[in-house]
Amino acid sequence: MLELTLDLLKAKLTVWKGCDLAKTANAVLGEGNPNAKVIFIGEAPGQKEDELRRPFVGAAGQFLNELLASIGLTREDVYISNVVKFRPPGNRDPEPIEKEQCMPWLMLEIALIKPRVIVTLGRHSLGHFFPQKTITETHGKPQKLTDSLTVFPIYHPAAALHNGNLRASLMSDFRALGEFLKNLEVGKIDN
Ligand code: URA
Repeated sequence: MLELTLDLLKAKLTVWKGCDLAKTANAVLGEGNPNAKVIFIGEAPGQKEDELRRPFVGAAGQFLNELLASIGLTREDVYISNVVKFRPPGNRDPEPIEKEQCMPWLMLEIALIKPRVIVTLGRHSLGHFFPQKTITETHGKPQKLTDSLTVFPIYHPAAALHNGNLRASLMSDFRALGEFLKNLEVGKIDN
């Protein structure tokens, strides 16, 4: 029987035409450690991500790398993906239908990796898991999704690039994330 792997998922996504965005953009699946305990999920690829067919490799990705380093992590330790797998034209916000059409790809990535923590970057990603919750209320505070899976909402690094207040908030939320992950490792947190 054919085994479902991230490589197979990527190959299937590359030829998939189930979303209008796939007519104008390249497929960008997530990347990183297939055994990661933590998945970071952004909104949609931008221009650089579309060009290189890799998530978070532009300016926001550079900032994400720095934030990861600030809590002792590298991209190789985690898995990084997006709700929408194709760049919306001109980097506009993804439409609800586009998020819905791409949703099964993200669910398959999560099912394969089986993380303990999902860090949502920005409101589109948070909305995928908790449509009723706002990022203003929840950022930096762990939200239990199931007995074994916690969502940790954080602002999107792109939004914080040019906004000093958001940047400070993002950095402080990352410190809280670092603490949360440390406690998880030694079993202090029951999730
Ligand atoms: N912003 C996102 O949400 N995802 C990327 O991959 C890059 C920028």
